[in-house]
Order: sequence, then C-alpha cells, then structure tokens
Amino acid sequence: MSENLTVAVVGATGAVGREMLKTLHDRAFPAARVRAFASARSAGSRVPFGDDELVVEELKEDSFAGIDLALFSAGGSTSEKFAPLAAAAGCVVVDNSSAWRMDPRCPLVVPEVNPDALDAHAGIIANPNCSTIQMVVALKPIHDAAGIRRVVVSTYQAVSGTGQKGIEELERQVRDLFNGRDPENKVYPYRIAFNALPHIDVFLENDYTKEEMKMVNETVKILDDPSVKVTATCVRVPVFFCHAEAVNVETAKKMTPKEARILLSQAPGVRVFDNPRELLYPMPADCIGEDPVFVGRIREDETVDNGLNMWIVADNVRKGAALNAVQIAEELVRRGLVRVPDRTVFTA
Ligand code: A2P
Repeated sequence: MSENLTVAVVGATGAVGREMLKTLHDRAFPAARVRAFASARSAGSRVPFGDDELVVEELKEDSFAGIDLALFSAGGSTSEKFAPLAAAAGCVVVDNSSAWRMDPRCPLVVPEVNPDALDAHAGIIANPNCSTIQMVVALKPIHDAAGIRRVVVSTYQAVSGTGQKGIEELERQVRDLFNGRDPENKVYPYRIAFNALPHIDVFLENDYTKEEMKMVNETVKILDDPSVKVTATCVRVPVFFCHAEAVNVETAKKMTPKEARILLSQAPGVRVFDNPRELLYPMPADCIGEDPVFVGRIREDETVDNGLNMWIVADNVRKGAALNAVQIAEELVRRGLVRVPDRTVFTA
C-alpha cells in the first residue's frame, strides 16, 4: 500500500514546509507522488524537491481528493479550516500548528516518546511545539527511570521559529544597524537584532505567554502524566536556527549526573555532548541541520535533594518541526495507519 501513497505538504513555500519536502526526499519517504500547496499568492511558483522542483498549487477546499497524507505547516487558521476538510476526504493530517494540539481527539506525538498514541488517531495528528519536542525527547528517559516531579525551563529560541518572516527580520535589522539606519520592527514588537525578547506568541490572562503555556500543557499531554509540573520562560534571541534550553529537573528518585549521561547517551534521538574540561557543550551554531537533540552541561542541582540541570539544543525547523512530522508519517506507514477510520469525527 505504502508505495502508492500521495503525500501533500501544505505551506510548502514556508521555512518549515521547505524543510518538510527536503526531509521527505532525504529519508526516501515511500510516496508515489508528492504535491506542494500554499496560498493563492504562491500558486504556480516552484519549490525544490531533491534535484527536481514541484509546482506549487493553491490550497482549496477540494484539494484533498486523492491525497492520503498531508503535512501541514501553514499557520493555525489554515489548519483550523483545512485539516477537518482533509480528514473528511480521507486524508490523514500531521499538523504543525498549535490549532489541534490540545484537542482530545488528536494525538500529540513525538515518535521517540509516545508513538503508541498514534494508534487511536481519528484523522488529525498534532506535531508539538518546537521547544516542547526537544525537551521531552530528553526528559522521557529520565522520567521513566527516576520519575520527574517538576521542570523549570528557560528557552533561547531562534527567529526561524517565527517562519521565513522572522529570519528576514533579523537579517534586515542587522544590515540596517551596520549601515547606520534605524531598524524597522515588522514582525516582533521590539528590535530582535542584538537583543533578547522575553515574549513569544501572545500574553495570556495569567501573564505567561502562549508559548510558555504550550510547553507546560503539551509536556503533560505527551508524557501522559499530569503529576509532572512544568514552568517556563520563553525568550527569543538573535539566532537564526536552533533553539537552546536551560532545563532544571527535580525527580522522585535520585539520579546522578553520571547516571543521566549514560541513560541519555542510550536514549533514542538524543546525543550527549558534555565534557566541561574540553569545553564541549552543544551550541545552536553547531546543531544546524542535525537530527538529534543534543544534551550537555549535565550537573547536579545542589540546592535540592534530587535535582539535575542540563542544556538542550536542537534544530527547531528540523527535529522541532519538519523531521518530527515526517517521523510521525513514517510511524503511521509502519503501523498501517494511513487511513481515516471515521470521516465524520471532525465535521460532525
Ligand atoms: P504563501 O507563501 O503562499 O504565503 P512561514 O511560516 O515560513 O511564514 O510559512 C507559512 C506557509 O503557510 C507558507 O507556505 C504560506 O504560503 C502558507 N500559507 C499561509 N496562509 C495560507 C493559506 N491561507 N492557504 C494556504 N497556505 C497558506
């Protein structure tokens, strides 16, 4: 069956959509045909797919006839409208927006952490937030071995998390500043060049940002354990690619840094890069285009009985978005789940 799959990327002209196409191609995803969709603005333009190019088609309500699987990265409102239409047409959706993540009908999946959640899918599967994905890949083995009670995370997030427009804003502002011009803020409320903004996504009633609450709520859903307490501060920094996170973890059982290093070095999707004496620790500039989640600076939190500190870095466009979505698609194929069991679930 899988050799006959027709796969679509929705948002194919965006930063994540392009990486989805690259990842599908590089990993030889078993598709007979790949189609690229974006808004009417891009219809007829071309996007790379291996050595070839795909002609971009305008996304329309009836676009999903004959498509088996669609990877969406075209923003929340596009997903809200078009993902149910896709599922009703029998096309399984892996959605990178936040629109469906907390919907109880939608599994929220990181394949290294909770692949079994896919078994109950009803047509729409949510890809978690980029910051959440890289954190839970490292937390899962620690949680299984020592029982995580509380997580305190501070993020250092790249502008590519805002899409192509974030990348362009940082580039333009750096150029403007070097040329003695006042940089214009089009995407972020303040200058991002040579700055740090403790503000990602919108502010909520509780004075946290939506990005911070995504990390809190998504972590609990993915680990399937409401006893895990998470608190987050999310910061945008003038880095193009790769998010970094300082993560403090309190566990029920004691785990030494040495035990954590051994455990994490055997965990799927993790690479431990941690040798302070040799000045070895992961950094965004070294992780661009890499698949694994890199973990370093593993050390004891000496202020509590059972605590660890660590530093987690991953390519936010790759493992934080495109690669995770493609890994979900691969897992769906492996499990024979590229089908919508009941086409009325999201339209009823
Ligand atoms: P387009 O280039 O035609 O605007 P990014 O997150 O990097 O900004 O990318 C967003 C992606 O979502 C782009 O591919 C964009 O296409 C696509 N997109 C935005 N709005 C729509 C829409 N209404 N229908 C389909 N695709 C959309």
